[in-house]
Amino acid sequence: MNMEEEVGGEGRAHLVMEGTLTARDRVGVQDFVLLENYTSEAAFIENLRRRFKENLIYTYIGSVLVSVNPYKELEIYSKAHMERYRGVSFYEISPHIYAVSDNTYRALRTERKDQCILISGESGAGKTEASKKILQYYSATCPISDNMSTLRDRLLQSTPVLEAFGNAKTLRNDNSSRFGKYMDVQFDFRGAPIGGHILNYLLENTRVVHQNHGERNFHIFYQLLEGGDQDLLSKLGLERNALKYHYLVKGCCPRVSSINDKNDWRTVTKALAVIGFRDEEDLFNIIASVLHLGNIQFGEGQDEQTEITTETQHNYLSKLLGVDGVALKDALTHKKLTAKGEEVSMISPLSFEQAVAARDALAKAVYGRTFTWLVAQINKSLAFKGSSSVIGLLDIYGFEVFQHNSFEQFCINYCNEKLQQLFIELTLKSEQEDYEAEGISWEPVKYFDNKIICDLVEEKHKGFIAILDEECLRPGESNDISFLEKLEDTLGGHAHFVTHKLANGKTRKTVGREEFRLIHYAGEVNYSVSGFLDKNNDLLYRNLKEVLCQSDSQILRECFQREEVTDQKRPETAATQFKNSLAKLMEILMCKEPSYVRCIKPNDAKQPGRFDEALVRHQVKYLGLMENLRVRRAGFAYRRHYQAFLQRYKCLCPGTWPNWHGKLADGVATLVQHLGYKPEEYKLGKTKIFIRFPKTLFTTEDMMIFGSVVALSLQTSWRGYRERSKYQRIRNAGNDMSAWRGMKSRRRARCRRHAANVVRKFIKGFIYRHYERCPENEYFLDHQRFSFLMTLVRNMPKTVLDKSWPVPPPSLIEVLLTMEQKVVASHIFKDQKESYPHSVPRLFVASRLSRQYGVPVTKYDRRGYKARPRQLLLTSSFAVLVAEAKLKQRIDYTALRSISVSSLSDGFMVLHVPSEDNKQKSDVVLQCDHVIEAVTKLACMLNRRGLGQGTMGFRSGDWDGHGKTLIMWSVNHFYVDFEVCFGSLSYWNIQLHPSLGFKQSGFYLIYTGT
Ligand SMILES: Nc1ncnc2c1ncn2[C@@H]1O[C@H](COP(=O)(O)OP(=O)(O)O)[C@@H](O)[C@H]1O
Ligand SMILES: [Mg+2]
Repeated sequence: MNMEEEVGGEGRAHLVMEGTLTARDRVGVQDFVLLENYTSEAAFIENLRRRFKENLIYTYIGSVLVSVNPYKELEIYSKAHMERYRGVSFYEISPHIYAVSDNTYRALRTERKDQCILISGESGAGKTEASKKILQYYSATCPISDNMSTLRDRLLQSTPVLEAFGNAKTLRNDNSSRFGKYMDVQFDFRGAPIGGHILNYLLENTRVVHQNHGERNFHIFYQLLEGGDQDLLSKLGLERNALKYHYLVKGCCPRVSSINDKNDWRTVTKALAVIGFRDEEDLFNIIASVLHLGNIQFGEGQDEQTEITTETQHNYLSKLLGVDGVALKDALTHKKLTAKGEEVSMISPLSFEQAVAARDALAKAVYGRTFTWLVAQINKSLAFKGSSSVIGLLDIYGFEVFQHNSFEQFCINYCNEKLQQLFIELTLKSEQEDYEAEGISWEPVKYFDNKIICDLVEEKHKGFIAILDEECLRPGESNDISFLEKLEDTLGGHAHFVTHKLANGKTRKTVGREEFRLIHYAGEVNYSVSGFLDKNNDLLYRNLKEVLCQSDSQILRECFQREEVTDQKRPETAATQFKNSLAKLMEILMCKEPSYVRCIKPNDAKQPGRFDEALVRHQVKYLGLMENLRVRRAGFAYRRHYQAFLQRYKCLCPGTWPNWHGKLADGVATLVQHLGYKPEEYKLGKTKIFIRFPKTLFTTEDMMIFGSVVALSLQTSWRGYRERSKYQRIRNAGNDMSAWRGMKSRRRARCRRHAANVVRKFIKGFIYRHYERCPENEYFLDHQRFSFLMTLVRNMPKTVLDKSWPVPPPSLIEVLLTMEQKVVASHIFKDQKESYPHSVPRLFVASRLSRQYGVPVTKYDRRGYKARPRQLLLTSSFAVLVAEAKLKQRIDYTALRSISVSSLSDGFMVLHVPSEDNKQKSDVVLQCDHVIEAVTKLACMLNRRGLGQGTMGFRSGDWDGHGKTLIMWSVNHFYVDFEVCFGSLSYWNIQLHPSLGFKQSGFYLIYTGT
């Protein structure tokens, strides 16, 4: 539970206050810049782990939010939480995705500069969830005009649609986004969302035709089969059984327990309606056509030519795609070769393998382009033309390193290099600018500039992508191996590029013959060169494109445009397309103020509560978090605007409380001087204070928490006072106004003085809290005691045996002991002894005599019952009776059989010891003014010696007094009679003096267990 979250009502504030000092140890720091040992990766991970165990999934590195996937629903996303973060300064409240959302929004409104939030992390780390939370925050908290509610709904509803078509179940995430997404949310001058725009990147369309074991195709296929009504399925020629479709069975897992395809279908079709889709039928036809395409089989015809053997599927396919059946059949089994510059083209038959590849290429192209079309449709429905400010959300794949890395990982990691470059540039730039603006000298930070790797990949003519393209497009035989050789020729010798051939010694063993290694900023990754050429080339043959441009389907006609086939220019390769779209993305991001969310997944099993350190360490490394922290911590750990700093800590200094009226900088200077900051600990800039070490801040923060509690109670009384004065003012309206004003201002001044005094006393007390009680800490200790006791009342141990008492502050250890003893006393005496109720409110004292517990008693001689003043002292193993510094009698606890007291309010107690023991002098009759306290202390001593509490108890006396000597004497108002049996007191009876009304008690034995 977070401390700040706890401060609710006044009562709770006390609770929070007491816990604060120890809370930091338990829940770690909420900003990594406050880590004392900020260069230690172990300390970093330990901080993450501690917070994660307490369900605190968010932590800052300065303004970067680190988020750990909890894999469970946390109660931190309610409307009330949104409200809590609204308009609140970033650092004043615990880290949250809403704080980032709100801060970004406010920066947009106040600084009038476009913003972006970059969310990165491995698959399954929580990026998409984070971006959804941000959107939800905006849609719930931003102002909205009447006609904008449709837009808000569309904005929110675009997510399920995109997820249905672009997400799939993978081994890492049941709802993994298989594309990169950048979304702009546009706001008008009032801060209301008025439009949006989405850019999509690199959909993983190989998934359409193949899935790894345990993974699925895109959700939409299963949703259609499970949720589509029977009429629709019949029309599409589909059966409600995913196992019937080759494209859906490769991963052997058509069903996933966490996914309800039927419900999701309903959500998606509703969302399509909200977005304003009119081409649904067309869209479903295309999805179905992909499934039919997967079931198209080839065989060998009469003249050894490849032909389609699945006629029914083919008929459905051509119907759903809205194309001519014969032309489609031809295009799937033949390839059109056009010689350069010539009109005539030749038709060449495809081999079986080529036909299968052409079929799969068609499926990927149809699906991939439809996805892009879908994004365009959503954009149309969100479009707003006019001036607006923008918050961009980038939910994009993080660094990927698998056992086997290919073209996709290469693109993804290249994208991360670019983002890292942007990050370093912007973070360092903003750090440096901040220092300069504040007039504080900038201390240069060493960091790794990854421009060298970006250049390696993207440089014109000699970069990796240029070489790949050249190899794809050049005439003559080229393949993946020739590409590798070309890479070696051109990039050999580059510090960040290694192959088996280029490497020597040990490194050579770690790179395969068909692999190359890139040394990325985040670490080394080996890529297998196999498939690079094919994946980079557009494998869709021209004649298939020709067929599709003539489709009856509006969607397909938009996806496959005539110019593409008539244009003689080669289409752009996949890598170049990706490079260009990344360059555009960088441009978009460069002109915005960035915020970062770094997502981490705590385990691979998608389990709540499990924190796999090795896995987290890997991500901390690949997300570059340590470097991030190092850059952020260079110089000063903490900085804050004067106003914010003063607002938070002004209660710590009488000079600044309740309000500072001078210049802010002077106020902060007064405050830090009062707090005793040393010159090397801080610097004052133009508008901000910079604090070098986290320790300084912690001490201040601890004081503040206490201070704020006082301020809270002062505020309450101040408000009460104000209301009373208001009332008086009205009542005395007729009175002399000047006298009234004078009195009012005197009162106010008195009130202020009092408040300042209280605060001063409190702070002083805090500083002296570890000292013995003294005038400086009196007030503080009393307050601490009161708060602790109030906490205790709410958390009383249930039994005497329960040792789980709340840990008291040091000054209260004594009090806690007394409390424990009071519980023991209650156990022994409650409803048993008449004087017990009176003893309850009186505190037991540590001792009435010396350091050890001691109490004055009267001892009655066994013979004649003469009264003798004695002192009873309790040591850890025996009790002694002392007179005038002489030890008169020693009673070993081991020899003590029992203790008796009566049920009346007398002060008698009898310590029973065996008379046959020579060393002991038999039973001792004592009278004590503090009998309850004394017996309790004795019981506690015995208990501590291992005589279990359970062995103690009361027994009312029904002794058969046969053959005993009766002794009777009177003390004060009591008559006491004993029966003596074998020298020990076995029965005694106490009566009130007849003049006070007869009342007879029984005896009670407190057994010690011996
Ligand atoms: N803040 C969160 N609270 C609860 N569960 C979450 C949270 N973030 C992620 N998850 C869980 O983790 C899964 C994967 O998250 P997702 O955002 O899809 O990952 P990514 O987009 O990074 O691949 C989600 O489906 C959800 O079950
Ligand atoms: Mg995702």
